[in-house]
Amino acid sequence: MPAFAVMSAPATPSSASEQAAPLRFALVGCGAIAPTQTKALQELPGLASLTHCCDIDAERARAFAAKHGLAVASWPELLANPAIDAITLCTPSGAHGTLAAEALRAGKHVVVEKPMEVTVAACDALLAAQKASGRRLAIISQHRFDPDSQVVRRLLDEQALGRLIAADVRIPWYRTQEYYDSGDWRGTWALDGGGCLMNQGIHTIDLMLWLLGPVKEVYARVATAAHERIEVEDLACATLVFANGALGTLFGSTACYPGFLVRLGLYGTEGSAILEGDELHTLAIKGRDTVQNVGGSAHAHQVATGGTRKAVHHAEAGEADAQRPVWKWGDAHREQFAEFVRAVREDREPLVNGQSGRAAVGLIHAIYESARTGAPVRLS
Ligand SMILES: NC(=O)c1ccc[n+]([C@@H]2O[C@H](COP(=O)([O-])OP(=O)(O)OC[C@H]3O[C@@H](n4cnc5c(N)ncnc54)[C@H](O)[C@@H]3O)[C@@H](O)[C@H]2O)c1
Repeated sequence: MPAFAVMSAPATPSSASEQAAPLRFALVGCGAIAPTQTKALQELPGLASLTHCCDIDAERARAFAAKHGLAVASWPELLANPAIDAITLCTPSGAHGTLAAEALRAGKHVVVEKPMEVTVAACDALLAAQKASGRRLAIISQHRFDPDSQVVRRLLDEQALGRLIAADVRIPWYRTQEYYDSGDWRGTWALDGGGCLMNQGIHTIDLMLWLLGPVKEVYARVATAAHERIEVEDLACATLVFANGALGTLFGSTACYPGFLVRLGLYGTEGSAILEGDELHTLAIKGRDTVQNVGGSAHAHQVATGGTRKAVHHAEAGEADAQRPVWKWGDAHREQFAEFVRAVREDREPLVNGQSGRAAVGLIHAIYESARTGAPVRLS
């Protein structure tokens, strides 16, 4: 038994706010991520209900509604419907800002899939719309809700790793050419907003910013190395200087066949924590036992490879791990929606708010600018 417990539990503590009526959601954009969000919302009966869906492709909306027991509505109908409290946007990334602002102006609370938008200016416009509306806005960044991410956040709050001095972030993923060809918007500046960093790497970039704090300077190179007919990068390398003085390296890609687990290493003066494939891979604190769990969740393997390789799960469960529930794809979305509903009820900012969304998009654009100019970029 290790000298300290690494207990991971879903982040769903109950509170007085559980007594209120469920927040009534409509989902917009019935594509790839929509079933995950639907399942997540349908798993929160006391907190949320999903009643309507909408898509510019009317047939897709009809089929989705029939499959999931929802009503179809047009965008104006959703905005005008007083029985809808909140809208969750699963549209292409460059369509997030305008739709979200319209929904906020119509008095709806809004959840936006990552990234918040594709430019910093669009993020700022959405922040301004949210401020004027008095409604709540969250950006999906579900990996903050993975149990082991929460464990690491708590360890940092307890100063268990001492002063953070370095971070090592690797996202060596793979996406096929067919993936990029599967939607007109994929791989475009206008609607995807970037490539392996803006679409895929942003999950880990947000996690990194949440755990280490803001970055103050970047120096980067990017390339389009192994795909055709895309405008954006499939390879990126950056060095980072954090506001707290820590140094970092960031490697992201969708060109590393067949795709490998994401890894986020945090190194402090008193110890190290390494997240790999959504799980705590290593925790080592001076004077205590080292915990190692070589694995990564089956879902993480699937995400890393874009589904091109069968998941191989080598988890060697320790005593603490054996007791924890299996964490499945979609659970983290569910936990983020639960936290969002509580934020609405308690009239507070959700954990991943518009400022967090803007910070991740801002850092990625600083990386793009450094790569374009060949010079370091300072972030304000
Ligand atoms: N959190 C995650 O793990 C995760 C995973 C995948 C995608 N995403 C994000 O979700 C968003 C959607 O990605 P996807 O892969 O599901 O895309 P997709 O292309 O599969 O689906 C997008 C859907 O939006 C519809 N649409 C487009 N414009 C619309 C509009 N103005 N109004 C209504 N519907 C509209 C399209 O017809 C399509 O059905 C992206 O921002 C992406 O980054 C997040």
